[in-house]
Amino acid sequence: MATEPESKEIHVNATEKRVIAAAILFTAACLMLIAYATWGLGINVPTCVPGTKAFDHGSITKHGNKNYEIHFLAKMWGFEPRQVRVPAGSTLDIFLTSKDVTHGFQVAGTNVNLMAEPAVISNARVHFDKPGRYTIVCHEYCGSAHQNMSGMIEVSDQISDISAEGLPSPEAGRKILEDKGCLACHSLDGTPGIGPTFKGLWGQTTELTDGTTRKVDAEFVREKILNPSENPVKGFEHVMPQLPATQDEIEQIEDYLEGMDRDGTPK
Ligand code: CUA
Repeated sequence: MATEPESKEIHVNATEKRVIAAAILFTAACLMLIAYATWGLGINVPTCVPGTKAFDHGSITKHGNKNYEIHFLAKMWGFEPRQVRVPAGSTLDIFLTSKDVTHGFQVAGTNVNLMAEPAVISNARVHFDKPGRYTIVCHEYCGSAHQNMSGMIEVSDQISDISAEGLPSPEAGRKILEDKGCLACHSLDGTPGIGPTFKGLWGQTTELTDGTTRKVDAEFVREKILNPSENPVKGFEHVMPQLPATQDEIEQIEDYLEGMDRDGTPK
């Protein structure tokens, strides 16, 4: 004789029901608190690092005498900043993230040994008393030029304040525009030229030859640099040559254009 199949019904006793109800209520309360913090109090809830302006680039902030906060940005295949000079006796708060893949960050001769991962911020505090050159190495295989990926912290008793190399400056983008010859056709001061002036261009809505409109933003500038002859801005000829520009150069140009005041000078 066949036996009855076992019942699949799940029995939840009263205590379990109360626990489940409490968990749901607690979760709902947490979500409501986050919503209240965001919209009611205007507090920025944590977001992904790549969308955070503070970590778009490396930076240096002075917090006190010989007390500095340094944001290092790791990217294929270098660090931003590339080299930092600090006075002996400095304390550095290092914050590190990656723009692309996972990198390593080890400061030789110290106990700083971090991973630079996209969307994650790693942090270490280090104090330097002894003058010397401390090499930063990427100790995580990150691609074809991994072995060349390094940086430097130089500690000196001859200087009184921090300085750095390899941080983007507003002028860097302008220099690229000059070097590539862009300014021959695009003025910075509003003078009409063969191409549209860069003055006040960023953020504007511009009409293209085919009648569509586009906002001048990072995506638009990138498209125009990489593929200039397609659908130019209305009223301009298809004469812009394609210019070899690296990802980095395009970003510096964009940073410069974005930072330009309406009168053409960088902020
Ligand atoms: Cu970066 Cu190896």
